[in-house]
Amino acid sequence: MKRIVVLTGAGISAESGIRTFRDSGGLWEEHRIEDVATFDAWRRNPALVMEFYNQRRKQLLEVKPNPAHYALAKLEQKYDVQIITQNVDDLHERAGSSNILHLHGELRKSRSTSDDSLVYDINGWELKLGDRCEKGSQLRPHIVWFGEAVPMIEPASELAASADIFMVIGTSLNVYPAAGLIHYVPANNVKYLIDPNAFPLSGIKNLFVMQEKAGIALPKLAEELLSA
Ligand code: OAD
Repeated sequence: MKRIVVLTGAGISAESGIRTFRDSGGLWEEHRIEDVATFDAWRRNPALVMEFYNQRRKQLLEVKPNPAHYALAKLEQKYDVQIITQNVDDLHERAGSSNILHLHGELRKSRSTSDDSLVYDINGWELKLGDRCEKGSQLRPHIVWFGEAVPMIEPASELAASADIFMVIGTSLNVYPAAGLIHYVPANNVKYLIDPNAFPLSGIKNLFVMQEKAGIALPKLAEELLSA
């Protein structure tokens, strides 16, 4: 079975109604990264950081996967599909994809501030100051903040290196190390880039750029790959 490895970003969830970060109207226009998405922000003003992620979580519970998420799930009929997502939403899971590696954490989970291995599902949308892990420490959002290590990058690079086909969908490729994953893919293997604002990546061979919305381009590409 051929392996398709997919790197997704906020753009794949845009058509579900989740705002991206850097497009016009994106989240980072309204909130400063330094105020809500760093460990320093959490130390200075944990209530503000909690509120930011509570609002994101609340909104996530109101949206649904879109045709792009479903197209990736359908590809499993013929391919070994491995998704590496920068997204903290659970729309790939809800669309039925089986193998999902979350590089930047998961919005619907919390983590102990004293023991990284203690990760819990959050019931509903709200995580509060005062919510504690089984060891009595405050719980924080299970999110990789700017400046923090990205523990899943090693398995992600191994997946990229094992791709027969690689897809990059809906990411501005601004944030490393995720943006560098394409360099692990064997040079001769086919790569697709799907993003209405996609630009050709220099030095990448066998790259097909599709300047379209994921919800339009991906179902078409999936049909092609399934009938190949
Ligand atoms: P960005 O907001 O940087 O980029 C979103 C990309 O999606 C842009 O290139 C858009 O052109 C594209 N896009 C918009 N609508 C689309 C659609 N319908 N179909 C396909 N593409 C579309 O988001 P990311 O690249 O995911 O990290 O951002 C990477 C990381 O930066 C995030 O994981 C987050 C953020 O800060 C953390 O919070 C740690």
